[in-house]
Amino acid sequence: MRKFIFGTAAMLTAISLQAGVDFDKDIKPVLESRCVKCHGAKKQKGEYRLSNAKDILKAGDSEETPLVAGKPDASYIIKLISMTDDDDDVMPPKGGTLTKDQVAKFKQWVKEGAKFPAGVELKDTSKKKMK
Ligand code: HEC
Repeated sequence: MRKFIFGTAAMLTAISLQAGVDFDKDIKPVLESRCVKCHGAKKQKGEYRLSNAKDILKAGDSEETPLVAGKPDASYIIKLISMTDDDDDVMPPKGGTLTKDQVAKFKQWVKEGAKFPAGVELKDTSKKKMK
């Protein structure tokens, strides 16, 4: 019981220290500029699509669970975006890895429940943002 109380207190402190992640501001622009080109309505590389709330949860060829709400360590997406350029499986495979800050935001987003607004279809903005 004691452990539980201390654990919870520590968790609440950790959360309040970090500003919450905002899907529209922190997650959507990265997905749209770095991922949707290959995993959206037009193409689903690896049989995986992440451009809407339903598809982002469905495993592709790997059969690894892409997202487990609350558990970044069990989420394949987090594993892939955390890899380095010399790893063949890193996502995105082109244009450079995500920044540390972006990866941290994704982890936090998953921790906070990986909320993705229903009915929203993300669009590829890579031509605008990826050079
Ligand atoms: C240039 C195209 C391209 C981009 C951009 C890209 N991917 Fe991928 N992705 C692939 C390919 C190809 C595969 C299939 C595995 C492989 O060949 O490495 C894949 C596989 C995956 C898988 C595994 C699906 C499964 O179950 O097999 C996930 C998860 C994933 N990508 C997430 C992302 C995320 C998140 C981003 C953006 C940060 C991203 N990808 C950007 C090409 C891309």
